Amino acid sequence: MIWRCDLVPQYEAYKPEIDAAIQQVLMSGRYVLAENVAAFEQEFSDYVGVKHSVGVNSGTDALMMPLWMCGIERGDEVITTPFTAIPTFSAIRHIGAKPIFLDLEPDTFLMNLDQLKSKITERTKAIVPVHLFGNAVDVEQIRDIVGKDMFIVEDCAQSHGAKVRGKMTGSMGNFAAFSFYPTKNLGAYGDGGLVATNDKDAADLMKKRRMYGMISKDEFVTDGINTRLDELQAAILRVKLRHLDAMNKRRQELAAIYADLLPKEHIKPQAVREGMESVWHVYSATVSGRRDELLQFLESRNIQANVYYPMPTTKQKGYIAAFGEGAPALPVTEHLSKHIIALPFYPEMDVKIMETVAKAIREFYGV
Ligand SMILES: Cc1ncc(COP(=O)(O)O)c(C=O)c1O
Repeated sequence: MIWRCDLVPQYEAYKPEIDAAIQQVLMSGRYVLAENVAAFEQEFSDYVGVKHSVGVNSGTDALMMPLWMCGIERGDEVITTPFTAIPTFSAIRHIGAKPIFLDLEPDTFLMNLDQLKSKITERTKAIVPVHLFGNAVDVEQIRDIVGKDMFIVEDCAQSHGAKVRGKMTGSMGNFAAFSFYPTKNLGAYGDGGLVATNDKDAADLMKKRRMYGMISKDEFVTDGINTRLDELQAAILRVKLRHLDAMNKRRQELAAIYADLLPKEHIKPQAVREGMESVWHVYSATVSGRRDELLQFLESRNIQANVYYPMPTTKQKGYIAAFGEGAPALPVTEHLSKHIIALPFYPEMDVKIMETVAKAIREFYGV
């Protein structure tokens, strides 16, 4: 079977370092919020180019925590994309806000910033751009449109290392949310997340809030929850962070190889705008037609391809339960959800596998 994403080769590639890091934690007797989390927060801040990082237990919490900092009240609005993993929506809803969606650019699959200005109202409290599939949204352009006082919370769950004109995604908004779900470009072996920010006061408050609002064993000073990154995951992430740039570079090389192998008239990979550097979290492309038949054909050849995302958020039952039917039309998103496909792709992938995938697609389209 050719998997959409195979995680074992990555473990094998870094096994001695990862095993040693795990052993070190197990022997330390300190498993939650200790030296590995603190060190990882510093190393990740340095990597992204921000002053502070707060490790939490998922990317969803890494979005929810900064949205909590934005002073959002029930009914306030947060502008984002309808074409993202559902947790972007979940975090916005959890905080009590109403998501307002921009339609997409058909070639980059990113939210269409030409529509941004017209969606801003008195109730808009934050913008959540999602750097989808590793492809960076122009956060500097968002800042120019919304002005300096609007909160921007970058959803970097899929964009560790991606850049906008040389600036790291996660370094341009007020806050950035990273996920370390195992399949991510920087993936743990369980759940994990992190908020990046230059705001020291906000980082300090989030560090209290991630542990019930406690500052010492017997003293709690603010509302809080339990959302902690654990030591094992932090130790593993410290190892993988050292290899992240090499893994991203390999993703970029493999994406270029795929583009050469695949039939251009039928498969159009996600476009990357000039000045942007994608880290190809997923190799997504639009197909000329018969997408679902192609998926079945590939499956019959033991090739797993997926669809991210088969429907806009506004068509999901959870959205309809919250807001009813009759969401504004999103024609580009609708079209993409029917024409997009994600092919097998991960940095340790053998080029021979890509040749097999491309051959099967050529056979399907008869070219
Ligand atoms: C775009 C996006 N945002 C948020 C998340 C949430 O991350 P997690 O699964 O770690 O909660 C994910 C991961 O699925 C994601 O892809």
